[in-house]
Amino acid sequence: MANVVVVGLLWGDEAKGKVVDFLAEDADYVVRYNGGNNAGHTVVVDDEVYKFHTVPVGVLHPNVTAVVADGVVLDPQVFTGELADLKNRGITADRIKISGNAHIILPYHRMLDGLEESSKGSGKIGTTGRGIGPCYADKMSRTGIRVCEFIDPERFRERLFSCIERKNALITKIYGGEPLNASAVYEEYSEYAKQIKPYVTDTAKLLFDASSQCANVVFEGAHASLLDIDHGTYPYVTSSHCVAGGACIGTGVGPTMIDRVIGVVKAYATRVGEGPFPTELNDEVGEAIRKSGNEYGTTTGRPRRCGWFDTVAIKYTAAVNGVSGVALTLLDVLDDMETVKLCTHYEIDGKKVRDFPTDVDVLARAVPVYEEMPGWKRDISEIKIFNDLPVEAKNYLARLAELIEAPICIVSVGKRRDQTIVLDREMLEM
Ligand code: GDP
Ligand code: IMO
Ligand code: MG
Repeated sequence: MANVVVVGLLWGDEAKGKVVDFLAEDADYVVRYNGGNNAGHTVVVDDEVYKFHTVPVGVLHPNVTAVVADGVVLDPQVFTGELADLKNRGITADRIKISGNAHIILPYHRMLDGLEESSKGSGKIGTTGRGIGPCYADKMSRTGIRVCEFIDPERFRERLFSCIERKNALITKIYGGEPLNASAVYEEYSEYAKQIKPYVTDTAKLLFDASSQCANVVFEGAHASLLDIDHGTYPYVTSSHCVAGGACIGTGVGPTMIDRVIGVVKAYATRVGEGPFPTELNDEVGEAIRKSGNEYGTTTGRPRRCGWFDTVAIKYTAAVNGVSGVALTLLDVLDDMETVKLCTHYEIDGKKVRDFPTDVDVLARAVPVYEEMPGWKRDISEIKIFNDLPVEAKNYLARLAELIEAPICIVSVGKRRDQTIVLDREMLEM
């Protein structure tokens, strides 16, 4: 048996969806432990493209139970829509389980997300606008509505009316927005509650029992380490525990039950939203990467900011996550580059820095220093064996692994399942 956490090592969109889908082949459970529908995880199976926001990608595998655990915030409108879309595409949802402890995203969370962002002006975070921050804020201030209350019509009505009264005061008096009609929200959301109720169960017990019976569990991290509320580039982060430790917090599975952590990272860097990004390329090279990698947000469609691979940032996140191995994705996107660059260190206020600063004011002053290597100038997207990769690509990977101080266990050279090169099968064994 193995319990494996898959976690993003930068600012999201590292192809966690693809890697989880690849590992799910041998899994019994795939578990989302953090975040909500701010995530967008893409899986390509043959010619079909699936975009997941809250439903775990494991649902594509007929033997996998897909779990939405305690640490997730669930938007019932989006979630039921996702289930309907999957059903239309022949994917059954009967193997989905939802924790009663997960929190519900309601219309006032989305409204407040937008209103708070607008009020920040140039200091905005660039959120996905999905109500994530306000929902987690309610959870932490102990005023949130959980799934267990949501599916009980009487409790839901009482909690919703009281919450909306308070939120309307905030919306109208502080932000000058339009108040919500509690009865209308109740009517609409009661319908979602009926659809969600059959999936609700004690997921912590389910996963504990499963692990005790030697089941294989893949924990599907959402967002990524530098968007983690504690370990990321605060305040330009999301509101959940994205790092591997979040898999324990967000599921009730104890740390001693985690066997391995696979960190996922692209062969270059991207970021969506605001916040410092030392290796960002605001030039034709950045544009070429965006074009070749089709770097547009899965959730919001925003163009992703692109830059070179940053070994300072990834050495830090590899350590924070205690990664066992790295899945290096989208290597094929660099196929046409004459040369490729790795950021080896920063210069900050005239000093050489190899330790990633999480204080954004310091990070904003970081000047990246690069090592330049020859590109491979060849289409690698159909290569199946590591040794068949061009020597320049192998050298790039070797130097990168040396600088981040972590071994590479998977190399991805395309969107499809069969465009995945395994270097260390033992590390992936369930
Ligand atoms: P996630 O949020 O980490 O799951 O990543 P996203 O799904 O938001 O973004 C990754 C994108 O890269 C998706 O469109 C994938 O289909 C695509 N992708 C995944 N692996 C590869 C790869 O190795 N090469 C290329 N070119 N695209 C890939
Ligand atoms: P996946 O799982 C990329 C970013 C947003 C914004 C910040 C806060 O697909 O990798 P939020 O709406 O969470 O309050 O926004 O976090 N962000 C992501 N960027 N991929 C994601 O998820 C993200 N989830 C949040 O762009 O900068
Ligand atoms: Mg994504």
